[in-house]
Amino acid sequence: MELRKKHFLDIVDYTPEEIDRLLVVGQKLKEDRLRAFGALSGKTLGLLFEKPSLRTRVSFDVGMQELGGHAIYLSPQEIGLGTRESVPDVARVISRFADAVVIRTFAQETVEQFAKWASICTINGLTDASHPCQALADILTITQKFGHLQGINIAYIGDGNNVIHSLMLAAAKMGANVAVAGPKGYEPDPQVVARAGQDAAQSGSRISITTDPLEAVDGADVIYTDVWTSMGQEAEYEKRLATFQGYQVTQELVAHAKPSAIVMHDLPAHRGEEIADDVIDGEQSAVFDQAENRLHAQKSVLLMLMAPTVFETL
Ligand code: CP
Ligand code: NVA
Repeated sequence: MELRKKHFLDIVDYTPEEIDRLLVVGQKLKEDRLRAFGALSGKTLGLLFEKPSLRTRVSFDVGMQELGGHAIYLSPQEIGLGTRESVPDVARVISRFADAVVIRTFAQETVEQFAKWASICTINGLTDASHPCQALADILTITQKFGHLQGINIAYIGDGNNVIHSLMLAAAKMGANVAVAGPKGYEPDPQVVARAGQDAAQSGSRISITTDPLEAVDGADVIYTDVWTSMGQEAEYEKRLATFQGYQVTQELVAHAKPSAIVMHDLPAHRGEEIADDVIDGEQSAVFDQAENRLHAQKSVLLMLMAPTVFETL
């Protein structure tokens, strides 16, 4: 196995065929949650979290149980990654106890460094720069709703953050178009946009960046948004609240997309900021199916990394 493929660190490490296989297995696990029960019998997953979490923590914990293994949650106070103990030391110690680890942290480099020193599978459970588990669940949701990804138009309204970085990379690989609309100065990382552009050229899709939400949602099948202030940016809350006015996903904005469009949000939502209550609770909202899909998509990742022979037979 290629070194990086021992881990799940970033969408860019996986080919469209591999991503497609992850989706197929995720869908099968959704249809029968206990289908692969026992595949991870006796295996332990460490959950090493430096930021809060509902979905990521619970879905990995439940996912391990449904595969016959178990998870241990390690809070920031317990580990002190890089403060109480160095990242390489933590990685080498956990590698002696557990079979895989999910890390949620700040710098992408921390996850990369951990993976380098760990002898076990390392899964990126969100960094400031990326959220690949979310992106996998997102494209699983879109596939379930529309039957395919090729040619699907995704409009992302808001901050150019970790969530859109991974979603953009996943969409570009799989042939979906992405139009991002956000205020000037809050665009996605140009390096990520450039990489997504290369993959889009291969898959026949388009990536575009604008400041105009109406332009982005024109012809959209999916309208996606995320918080304006991500974890770790709390000091910028007031400034961001002012800057992002005009970028709320409202019913009026949704009405400019296709009538069949779905609305997505990775959650947690700041209702009344990036999304209006009647949109997130409305008929076009797919957000709770999307949240559920974290479980199915991540069980697929766990099997791919920890029980590849079972993964192949599903
Ligand atoms: N979407 C997501 O990652 O949620 P949590 O922060 O609750 O894990
Ligand atoms: N962009 C958000 C995603 C939370 C799941 C954050 O990083 O806080």
